[in-house]
Amino acid sequence: MGGHSNEAGPARTGFTGWLNKRLPVDAFVKGSMTEYYAPKNFNIWYFFGSLALLVLVMQLITGVFLTMHYKVGEATAFDSVEYIMREVPYGWLLRYLHSTGASAFFIVVYLHMFRAMLYGSYKAPRELLWLFGMVIYLALMAEAFMGYVLPWGNMSFWGAQVIVNLFGTIPVIGPGLVEWIRGDYGIADSTLNRFFSLHVVAVPLVLLLLVALHLVALHETGSNNPDGIEIKDNKDAKGNPVDGIAFHPYYTIKDVFGVGVFLTLFCIVVFFMPTFGGIFLEKPNFEVANAMSTPDHIAPVWYFTPFYAILRAVPDQQLGALAMALSLVCLVLLPWLDRSPVRSIRYRGWMWKTALTLFVISFVTLGYLGLMPPSPLYTTLARICSVVYFAFFVLMPIYTRLDPVKPVPARLTSDHE
Ligand code: HEM
Repeated sequence: MGGHSNEAGPARTGFTGWLNKRLPVDAFVKGSMTEYYAPKNFNIWYFFGSLALLVLVMQLITGVFLTMHYKVGEATAFDSVEYIMREVPYGWLLRYLHSTGASAFFIVVYLHMFRAMLYGSYKAPRELLWLFGMVIYLALMAEAFMGYVLPWGNMSFWGAQVIVNLFGTIPVIGPGLVEWIRGDYGIADSTLNRFFSLHVVAVPLVLLLLVALHLVALHETGSNNPDGIEIKDNKDAKGNPVDGIAFHPYYTIKDVFGVGVFLTLFCIVVFFMPTFGGIFLEKPNFEVANAMSTPDHIAPVWYFTPFYAILRAVPDQQLGALAMALSLVCLVLLPWLDRSPVRSIRYRGWMWKTALTLFVISFVTLGYLGLMPPSPLYTTLARICSVVYFAFFVLMPIYTRLDPVKPVPARLTSDHE
């Protein structure tokens, strides 16, 4: 820095000095990496944020290359995907990376969200961090849904039909809204065109912006941790948290290990089971969209099925759509429904532990039921699970207050020095 230093770091000379005078590179690296203190007790649950970032980048890169060969339009879309699979060098790899990436994204994000529930990370002062996360989640659902329509397979077509029609259940504006979304009287060329534009340009931009806000909010409050203790409450003479360690190099190296494990599993799926038995890529989608032939059983991709099962559990379609929307609203409200004085499950009582276990069982069961064709037994089960799902949220303000919590230690418990 031409010989003089600033608070961002030691004096820099040469190119780095020149650069730092014009761009706060050192200050950024210090503020968010080498002197950004994170709790020292992160466990494997803390891998999933960085993995979500990795998958986001992978989806953007593979998406850009797929778009070079994909031809939007009801006459060309399906064939162009077949062309990518058979003729474009490594096109099959690009497509399987992208389609497997979509499922991987949701696996990683669901585990990431569940971690927040385990350790009460959504509680004050991290409510906004959670809200940004929820908007990311909703944007991700929209992104995945529209992406699924692009290959113009038969499930793309019929899935879009079912989902877009759900907006028709909104009183008064519903029918007009459905027409406006489709741009036609049915799912058609115009629908495909706008979904392409939204999937490739608009939603990725929104996602990037939201992830940036998510990370800014995270750095403002600092990370929570498996003990749910605020590390900023215990600082050393220099003002650094005693229970914190520098994000770089300690957590960058830990995250690299997580990336290694993740990519190994990811590659096993991409190379050996890319359709994952029809769960990641469904069978009817290898046939071109056909308005005259409804697939035997219309089901969305697995990551939507818990909500789809709630929709089907309610006999009235309008109320079903409302229940589905409310099931997402409940998640948004989590920071305000949970009245427990402690964050982490480690110090909560039997009531929260039981409630969370029942919630997980009902969510996973709903996910399974949403994949299956309906039957009387499955419908009953879906109803029971939907009631458990909603009870978890609706009763939360009560049982989190009554829960016999344990005393929370002042310092992280992993500190055995
Ligand atoms: C593209 C999707 C997402 C990306 C790239 C992302 C990224 C991250 C990263 C890098 C962290 C810090 C590392 C970690 O704690 O694992 C983090 C923390 C967090 N994220 Fe996300 N996130 C995403 C989606 C979500 C969603 C959908 C939610 C919830 C609705 C959410 C809620 C949180 C919370 C509460 C924390 C703080 C956790 C704690 O400190 O204990 N995130 N996120």
